Amino acid sequence: MKLENKKALITGASRGIGKAIAGLFLAEGAVVWGLGTREPEDLPERVEAAEGKLHWISADLSNVETVEDVAAAALTDAGGFDILVNNAGITRDNLAFRMSLEDFRRVLDVNLSAAFIIARTLGRDMIRTRKGSIINMSSVVGIHGNGGQANYAASKAGLIGLTKSLARETAPRNVRVNAIAPGFIETDMTGALGEELKKKMIDHIPLKRMGRPEDIAAAALFLASDDSAYITGQVFAVDGGMFM
Ligand SMILES: NC(=O)c1ccc[n+]([C@@H]2O[C@H](COP(=O)([O-])OP(=O)(O)OC[C@H]3O[C@@H](n4cnc5c(N)ncnc54)[C@H](O)[C@@H]3O)[C@@H](O)[C@H]2O)c1
Repeated sequence: MKLENKKALITGASRGIGKAIAGLFLAEGAVVWGLGTREPEDLPERVEAAEGKLHWISADLSNVETVEDVAAAALTDAGGFDILVNNAGITRDNLAFRMSLEDFRRVLDVNLSAAFIIARTLGRDMIRTRKGSIINMSSVVGIHGNGGQANYAASKAGLIGLTKSLARETAPRNVRVNAIAPGFIETDMTGALGEELKKKMIDHIPLKRMGRPEDIAAAALFLASDDSAYITGQVFAVDGGMFM
C-alpha cells in the first residue's frame, strides 16, 4: 500500500473528486480527516471497510475567519499530517461585467483564501517535521481562463501561484507542493450543465470522454505518495488531452 498509516486532510471530501480521493487514500492505507459542510451520505464500500480510519470535520470554509481554528483543531486531533489536499471548491458563474463583488469574493474565499490558511497551518508543522505533500486542486480554467468564470478562473490561477511559491519556500525542508488541473470531470459541479453543452465539450477532448473523479484521485495518489518524491512546484493537467 502506498500510503500506509499516512495522515491526510482532504477538504471537500463529501462528494465528487474529494470523495474519490478519500476512498482511494483509505484503500491505500491512509488515515483520512475529511472536511466539508456536511458528511457524505453514501460512502464508497472501501471507505466503510476502513472503519475507524475516516474522521469527519464539519466546517464551512466560506467563513474565512474561522478556517485557521478549524485547521489548528484538526492538526491537534491528528497530531500532524503527512498529506494535505486542498480540494473544496465552488463556482458562482456569470459574465464578469454582471458579476457581483460578493460572488467574486465568495469564490476567492472558499477556493483560494481557505486553501492558503490551511496550507499555512499544516505546512508550518510539516516544515518542522521535514516531511509532507500538499496538493492544491486547481483547474485548466486557471491556466487558460474561461468566459463566465472570472472569479473561478482567478481563484484557480491564484492556487497555481500559491503552489509554486509555497513549493519554493518549503522544498529545503522536504515538503512538496503541487497542483492538479482537472479538465472536464463528471461530478455534481458539472452535472448542472446541459447535455448539448456537455456533448460540445466532449467533442473538444482528444480522449473523447469526460474525466471521472477516479482519474483525478489517481493523480492525487501519485503526488501524495513517495512515487513523486522528486517532484515539487508542478501543475499536472488531467484533462484527457484537452490542452496540449
Ligand atoms: N468537476 C470538474 O470538472 C472540475 C474541473 C476542474 C477543477 N475542479 C475542482 O475540483 C474540486 C472538486 O470539484 P468537484 O467537481 O468534486 O465539486 P463538487 O461540487 O462535486 O464538490 C465540491 C466539494 O467541496 C465542498 N465545499 C464546497 N463549498 C464548501 C465550503 N464552503 N466549505 C467546505 N467545503 C465546501 C463540498 O461540500 C464538496 O465536498 C473543486 O476545487 C473544483 O473546482 C473540478
